[in-house]
Amino acid sequence: MKGLILAGGSGTRLRPITHTGAKQLVPVANTPILFYGLQHMADAGIEQVGMIVGDTADEIRAAVGDGSRWGLRVTYLPQEAPLGLAHAVLIARDFLGDDDFVMYLGDNLLRDGITSFVEEFTQHRKDTSGVPASAQILLAPVPDPQRFGVAELGPDGEVVALLEKPEIPPSDLALVGVYLFDPSIHEAVRAINPSDRGELEITDAIQWLLDNGHRVRHEILRGWWLDTGKLTPLLEANRLILEVLEPAVHGKVDEHSKVEGRVVVAEGAEIIRSTIRGPVAIGANTRIVDSYIGPFSSVDADCEVIASELEHSIVLANSRVENVPRVIDSLIGRHAVVQRSHQRPRATRLLVGDHCQIDIDS
Ligand code: TTP
Repeated sequence: MKGLILAGGSGTRLRPITHTGAKQLVPVANTPILFYGLQHMADAGIEQVGMIVGDTADEIRAAVGDGSRWGLRVTYLPQEAPLGLAHAVLIARDFLGDDDFVMYLGDNLLRDGITSFVEEFTQHRKDTSGVPASAQILLAPVPDPQRFGVAELGPDGEVVALLEKPEIPPSDLALVGVYLFDPSIHEAVRAINPSDRGELEITDAIQWLLDNGHRVRHEILRGWWLDTGKLTPLLEANRLILEVLEPAVHGKVDEHSKVEGRVVVAEGAEIIRSTIRGPVAIGANTRIVDSYIGPFSSVDADCEVIASELEHSIVLANSRVENVPRVIDSLIGRHAVVQRSHQRPRATRLLVGDHCQIDIDS
């Protein structure tokens, strides 16, 4: 079984505020979204991963490298433009050969990973008693199926049709960004035509499989899942990931500090005369001094939080928060400085980047 991760640029979607690069590298709990997918691949026993990249290829390559950090071998597959999820399969033909593979959308986050999903398919393919399925899709009930690819199930509970963003959805079961295929998908992606939005749609390719006598299995997802490409608020994604983080303290915590609950303190970080109340993630080489970091906060690498209080907030890498008594529900970008100054006249002095929102105390 091989892996195919889609981390091309789609360009159609607004990027989360404060981040101007590849959307798949937006950090959640101080880890780029894409890294969770790579870890899930490794956990599922996959060794070879094809990575579809577009105009942010350099940034993705710099972050992921050869994949050895996860015990993976990553091969980069440049896509000239985001011409659709099925187009990504089309250009990965040589890499995939005749292997079964799991396709994973690089901007999706799944609480429980993909191991059981992959195991189900592998088990099913070994079982010779029934008609083997050529594909397996993962479905999750959503309140707004009009925004997703949606599955229609027949009376026997089998998938009979897939519809891309239907006005009148036949069910509330949305396609989650993880798919398993056998090599018949290659014929399907060659057979279909671009949709009205000019993309080769994976839903059309799977529909082609159904129309040509192939079976498509499905599983219903139980744990949460976020399609971060659909503008999931970053604070919400952060909260969900922090809740399932393995606590680990690698950095230094001095004897005047208190670390309580689910907390990760990365290598080289220092907690000095401070209280950290989890779930919290503190990134590598970050210093927390004379401060309080409250639940659901992530402070990324190379930051300083000095004499401040932070709760339910995200601070991205290389930023400094100093002498600010209470920061809550906030998202602070990279290389930012938030500080209390004693300059006169007393005033709020701002240097605010694009797409920002600042709520000032009344
Ligand atoms: P999206 O553009 O979010 O694809 P989608 O089909 O989920 O979105 P839509 O709501 O428009 O139907 O891309 C999902 C992931 O796949 C993201 O990481 C970008 C990547 N991708 C490619 O690598 N190549 C492509 O051609 C496309 C369309 C997406």
